[in-house]
Amino acid sequence: MPIAGKLITLEGGEGAGKSTQLTRLAERLEAGGSRVLRLREPGGTPLGETMRDVLKRPGSVIAPEAEALLFAACRAQLVAEVIAPALAAGAVVLCDRFIDSTVAYQSGGRGLDRAAIEAANRLACGALRPHLTILLDLDPSRGLGRASLRDHGRSDRFEALGEEFHRRVRASYHALVREEPARFRVLDADRSPDLISEEIWHEVQARFA
Ligand code: TMP
Repeated sequence: MPIAGKLITLEGGEGAGKSTQLTRLAERLEAGGSRVLRLREPGGTPLGETMRDVLKRPGSVIAPEAEALLFAACRAQLVAEVIAPALAAGAVVLCDRFIDSTVAYQSGGRGLDRAAIEAANRLACGALRPHLTILLDLDPSRGLGRASLRDHGRSDRFEALGEEFHRRVRASYHALVREEPARFRVLDADRSPDLISEEIWHEVQARFA
């Protein structure tokens, strides 16, 4: 039986390889007969893609509180317009970043109140939670180096925040895993993409097949 009606999210710092792994997982699920929707945050709707440019552009002046609300607004639109209908129709939804990114970056990284971020996430998603979250864990110095190579040395607004910021993001992800160990699978992202995609595939099979 193909896997159906699941929300699987990929999380991690910069340069962790989320989009590569999302593509590989989507291809394997599709080969098994699942209907798969590939999404990224911010993005996936006209509103989200417009805000993505604004949020990532190095010159954008955005207060941390406004930034958190903009990510939540994009998520609210994505859930209402795309994710909820797709899950109801039996698709597997793969999302590159979701609620945990806002906790890790805007609370862990920026230092905003965790409860306020959770409230914004609840407003955006209602009762919807990921069925599985893959955390691709990588030391920020490695990740930022990889992202810089990928982007030919041009940092976006978040990459430019430097290593200390990204260490707080990583610590916040680790705290989330301790709070909800059953939802997460943590994988060391400093290994070959083939090995990582095998482990993700086994995890998905073990949970849902
Ligand atoms: P990415 O697609 O390259 O991961 O870019 C998205 C950037 O936005 C990344 O630096 C993480 C950041 N981000 C947040 O700070 N909070 C969020 O809620 C989300 C979804 C992304």
